[in-house]
Amino acid sequence: MKAEELLDLAPVVPVVVLDDPDAAVPLARALVAGGLPVIEVTLRTEGALAAIERIAAEVPDAVVGAGTIVQPEDAERSARAGARFLVSPGCTGRLREAMTATALPFLPGVSSASEAMALLEHGVTAMKFFPAEAAGGAPYLKALNGPLPQIRFCPTGGVTQDNATRYLGLPNVGCVGGSWLTPADAVRDGDWDRIEDLARKAAALR
Ligand code: 3PG
Repeated sequence: MKAEELLDLAPVVPVVVLDDPDAAVPLARALVAGGLPVIEVTLRTEGALAAIERIAAEVPDAVVGAGTIVQPEDAERSARAGARFLVSPGCTGRLREAMTATALPFLPGVSSASEAMALLEHGVTAMKFFPAEAAGGAPYLKALNGPLPQIRFCPTGGVTQDNATRYLGLPNVGCVGGSWLTPADAVRDGDWDRIEDLARKAAALR
């Protein structure tokens, strides 16, 4: 799968922070049942790689990826765990090379025209726009589409059920990402029905 195709699989990519890998499978099943099969598990917790492994093995309808790829080594570790895509909050030359080396689709984070153009020089045309709301929001992305229409984005950071349509209506946005689908208390309490319901509402955004 190419990164461009990844952007078109679902309107919303849940950004998940998982402390307990045992919660990974029921959580992923709830998101898939609600209509959001693309799931980004952030490498911000000890159990993140184990969570990716379990989802990859036990939830065949999920397309699980690794987020918060910050160190070049994170890319290969995530690929070994079964991640099917990689997402980073920003990008450096070494990180881009490490993500490219996995042969997985990846969404490197950018928040400016220059950062986007630096990646474009390497043939990267699908990116994460982060932190979306703080970096200028939908008006900023709309402005980028004039000079850089060949780049498509997944805005993430401050995106919610209420403001997502502002982004999804733009020609250079494939999908949005966000953590609002998996509130920490719902994950802690195993409230999978609530998460499925949040996913269903988000899946209906497009
Ligand atoms: C990310 O890692 O992409 C963001 O932390 C998610 O941002 P949000 O919590 O504002 O949705």
